[in-house]
Amino acid sequence: MTDNPFATHAELFDLRGKRALVTGGTRGIGLMIARGLLQAGARVVISSRDAEACAQAQEQLSRCGEVRAVPADLSRHDECRRLSGLVTGESERLDILVNNAGAIWDEPLATFPDEAWDTVVDLNLKSPFWLVQALLPALREAGTADDPARIINIGSIAALHIPQRPNYSYSSSKAALHQLTRVLAKELGPQHVTVNAVAPGPFPSAMTAAILDEFGEAVAASAPLRRIGRDDDMAGVAVFLASRAGAYLTGTVIPVDGGIATTA
Ligand SMILES: NC(=O)c1ccc[n+]([C@@H]2O[C@H](COP(=O)([O-])OP(=O)(O)OC[C@H]3O[C@@H](n4cnc5c(N)ncnc54)[C@H](OP(=O)(O)O)[C@@H]3O)[C@@H](O)[C@H]2O)c1
Repeated sequence: MTDNPFATHAELFDLRGKRALVTGGTRGIGLMIARGLLQAGARVVISSRDAEACAQAQEQLSRCGEVRAVPADLSRHDECRRLSGLVTGESERLDILVNNAGAIWDEPLATFPDEAWDTVVDLNLKSPFWLVQALLPALREAGTADDPARIINIGSIAALHIPQRPNYSYSSSKAALHQLTRVLAKELGPQHVTVNAVAPGPFPSAMTAAILDEFGEAVAASAPLRRIGRDDDMAGVAVFLASRAGAYLTGTVIPVDGGIATTA
């Protein structure tokens, strides 16, 4: 950040010199965010379970900047610690943590199994908490009063309105993640770390492929903006929250949904 109180347009969104971790950055929304951060100049580590997907995403994203992919199963506490150790082994500073990796489980109420709670809550709720715990020293090291470190949690509009699908553990885990965002924002603000959530509406991804293949047109028609989300919509909000432009926001949950939940 410069001493000039009036940043130029480029300075407002500049992430050069910043280090970021994007979980689940190998495809879908995580890939959109990783690309946006790289294009703004950040160095990015992405992670997912699949080593082959990691290698492919790293190759694809390396056209946009300096990226490294690390395979890890982040539904496990020990794996969150291991990934955090690898990230902080490279540098004691982490400027941007994007908790994006997530899982969903659709099944009717009568047969909704215990496993659907454990799998979804471990990854969608506990894992962001574990990563914050492990990476907090590095985030504190990076943040200043003028330019705090940033935690961006990827929630969902499924936690803002009542979803049509029977995904009980998913929408509950995302509501809890939105609340955890506010709780951590209050605690970590004085430590120069902001915590915000993005609540996406429908974006094309492996998670939504089946639904959008079948009902994509109806979903788009249900949005006041009459379309589903695009890569730039997600990259834009992530760069905003990660950059000087977003330095004074904390504890927010930003719906990026074409108006689906916000006007429901
Ligand atoms: N797409 C949407 O419309 C939408 C809407 C609202 C919210 N969201 C949220 O956005 C986030 C990304 O979703 P998406 O739609 O992009 O889904 P996606 O295409 O299924 O991508 C999920 C990513 O997370 C990784 N992942 C899954 N399980 C993991 C684990 N145990 N450990 C580490 N990484 C894991 C996946 O890679 P591996 O399988 O290789 O591990 C992949 O990179 C999620 O939190 C989701 O809830 C999405």
